Amino acid sequence: MHNVAHRGYSAVAPENTLPAFAAAVLGGATLIEFDVRTTADDVPVVIHDRTLDRTTSGSGHVWDSPYESVAALDAGSWFSPAYAGVRVPTLAAVLELLTEADLLLEIKPPATLPQVKTILELVGAAGARDRTIVQSFDPEIVRLVREVDPVVRRGLLRLRFEADTLDLADELEVVCVNPSTADVLGDPRTVAALTARGIDVMAWTANDMAEWAPLSESGIAGLITDRVAELTGWIAAR
Ligand code: G3P
Ligand code: CA
Repeated sequence: MHNVAHRGYSAVAPENTLPAFAAAVLGGATLIEFDVRTTADDVPVVIHDRTLDRTTSGSGHVWDSPYESVAALDAGSWFSPAYAGVRVPTLAAVLELLTEADLLLEIKPPATLPQVKTILELVGAAGARDRTIVQSFDPEIVRLVREVDPVVRRGLLRLRFEADTLDLADELEVVCVNPSTADVLGDPRTVAALTARGIDVMAWTANDMAEWAPLSESGIAGLITDRVAELTGWIAAR
């Protein structure tokens, strides 16, 4: 079962930053998840929210800010003074750090075809194509990924197991469908239908240790968690 570092080891370092990714490797993650958005001047950066407000010293939409402005922001102090001065990383910087790790790269909407192309070119240039799954909540973005690179592995994120989940998974030819922990625990039939098709299911965000046993017994392929080293220890002790 994969131990997926959600936004890096985000329980101990500010999410989606280089320290969080370095900690994820040290903590035993087998797959590292992060979120990609594109700045106003078309630089892919790694940040979760649509706006800069929650996790940086800046404000406003990521897509309205030029990279030079984003690069100057403090993306660590909101988490702890110990991380003051940590920056929003570019996708290129994350790929340069994670030269060995398997990656779960989420493209956040909105994303255009040229932006998806730039993201996949960076993945390819870093030699990471074969160890990356590219996922999105937005089926249109998954389609764009396939249009740009039909071979790179794709994943579909779901807020809920909607009625169209199985059809979408088939149509998009994804290797994984990643729903909430609540959906995995509440809808074993859909989990079973996906796994019977050879499609992996990885649940987010598995931070409650009391759920780790029932989740791991549900047949899923991975737990996407903020608590990477804790999950490493839990898996080792099983
Ligand atoms: O990969 C699963 C998880 O990252 C999806 O939710 O909002 O944390 O991007 P979110
Ligand atoms: Ca994500």
